[in-house]
Amino acid sequence: MKTINIAIDGPSGSGKSTAARNLAEDLGIEYIDTGAMYRAAAYKALRDGVPAEEAAIEKMLENSEIDFSGGRIYLDGADISGEIRALEVSAAASEISKFNSCRSRLVELQRRIAESKSVVMDGRDIGSNVLPDASYKFFITASIEKRAERRWKELQEKGEDATLEAVKEDLKQRDYNDTHRKLNPLIKTKDAVEIITDDINIEEVNELLKSYIKR
Ligand code: DC
Repeated sequence: MKTINIAIDGPSGSGKSTAARNLAEDLGIEYIDTGAMYRAAAYKALRDGVPAEEAAIEKMLENSEIDFSGGRIYLDGADISGEIRALEVSAAASEISKFNSCRSRLVELQRRIAESKSVVMDGRDIGSNVLPDASYKFFITASIEKRAERRWKELQEKGEDATLEAVKEDLKQRDYNDTHRKLNPLIKTKDAVEIITDDINIEEVNELLKSYIKR
């Protein structure tokens, strides 16, 4: 059977992960959250006191196993889906994702998953680098104000203690890192459909994505 791959890219807090998860569920295919993979690596580095330096992270990843199962992410066999959402993990993930060895290892894993089954994969470089031949490509974005507000609400609901201003600063820093890094920065490819989510809700984003796929 031919596999279908759908690539969804965009900045943090744009709603792309929720959109990707819903779309995968509706289509009955797997959702792969590549940001969660960078977060898993960052979480392990923070937990084990591994410095955010390329050689140290490379060595750590050689001895790490990152897997998805049933919508959860596992690091060395342990479910760390909750832990990786902390603000400090977000910042560290953005930091280590600029390392060549870290990216190439995770990208290889992402491509292997997409070859074996149909997926909706979301991240920063999916349409441009991981799956350049994806059947569909979307770029989901929103203003910094809207994105900060959404992230802040999510953190509040999880009982995380952060001010709206701190969340906005973190997003700005990550936007800068993600769009300015030398290797596979966040970009909208020419063949991606852009969706701006400032004034539309999750259901509307979902309908819009599906309407493109029907075409
Ligand atoms: O999507 P997210 O916020 O969970 O991603 C966390 C960090 O991982 C993000 O700041 C940049 C990095 N990332 C990346 O470099 N490439 C991807 N495909 C996905 C995420």
